[in-house]
Amino acid sequence: MTEFVSVVRGVGGHLPSKVLTNDDLAKMVDTTDEWITARTGIRKRHIAAEGETTSDLGAIAAKKALDAAGLTPDDIDLIVMATATPDYTFPATATIVQHKLGITRGAAFDLQAVCSGFVFATATADNFLARGQFERALVIGAETFSRILDWSDRGTCVLFGDGAGAMVLERQTKEQAGDKGVKGIHLRTDGRYRDLLFVDGGPSTTQTVGQLRMVGNQVFKHAVGKISESVMESVKQAGLQVKDIDWFVPHQANQRILSAVAERLGLEEHKVVSTVAEHGNTSAASVPLAMAAAIEDGRIKPGDLVLIEAIGGGLAWGSALIRV
Ligand code: UT7
Repeated sequence: MTEFVSVVRGVGGHLPSKVLTNDDLAKMVDTTDEWITARTGIRKRHIAAEGETTSDLGAIAAKKALDAAGLTPDDIDLIVMATATPDYTFPATATIVQHKLGITRGAAFDLQAVCSGFVFATATADNFLARGQFERALVIGAETFSRILDWSDRGTCVLFGDGAGAMVLERQTKEQAGDKGVKGIHLRTDGRYRDLLFVDGGPSTTQTVGQLRMVGNQVFKHAVGKISESVMESVKQAGLQVKDIDWFVPHQANQRILSAVAERLGLEEHKVVSTVAEHGNTSAASVPLAMAAAIEDGRIKPGDLVLIEAIGGGLAWGSALIRV
């Protein structure tokens, strides 16, 4: 059987136009710009307008990724969409995006790994492409977390924002891909920690959507150790070393976590792509949004080795090394 490699063709991001600053939040809950900036690095976040849905954001990000790739929706035969804030309980938001893009072939489905969703979706698409079952995939991370926040809980509502990011992955032979492609992936979950970060509602329990609950300082402690271990696993699997990494594109949860992980891994600060100040934590959208920003501003260039990672509800965490 021919061996295939998944190669990144294009990345795009989209943020809703409405912006909520830390000062805006200080008018809603007992918090300050100083506290939020010092503890998280977040200065503002984008919030979806009334009626603006996860599929709306995801479809725009997908179009931007296709434009960046020089491709059209007709070129896509797989959509893997990471979201914890679907438009509806069903059908899969991926099928709504598929329809909005005018794609009538192939398959589209949602994947639920909360903040780690984009890493899990990349792994899933990579496996389908590597087996030769699909040709070109849109890997999307899109969220409207503003819809599941408790806007009276200062411990969580200041952290999250809405947005979407997408990446086109293409199946290529080893000869075509050269040194490019997905090099190593490590995924983990541990349901013992589900109570540290969860939504307190759902179809089968409360028949409501529910709101996000988090024991932030506990998640923080798990994040630094578990992400660092995962990165080492991905690097080992790829037969590479940490010093080979050109760009570290982490899940944008908290600047203190980003910096602590980079320090633990021995990654220089200038290699860390951080959008947390402008975007806040956009869950599954945060990695592709950050990747798109760093490609657009010319930091990430063709041939660079990019490390992505994330951790969130589950707990679920993982990392991937991709030469773009
Ligand atoms: O994307 C999924 C992964 N999620 C994460 O990675 C989030 C990880 N956790 C974090 O980023 C941090 O734990 C937080 C930013 C959520 C909190 O920072 P912290 O340094 O861990 O603070 P803490 O939770 O230990 O709270 C310290 C104090 C508490 O007051 P007392 O009990 O010391 O009097 C909180 O009530 O800060 C208080 N506090 C606030 N004060 C002002 C919590 N939220 C706020 C707030 N404004 N918004």
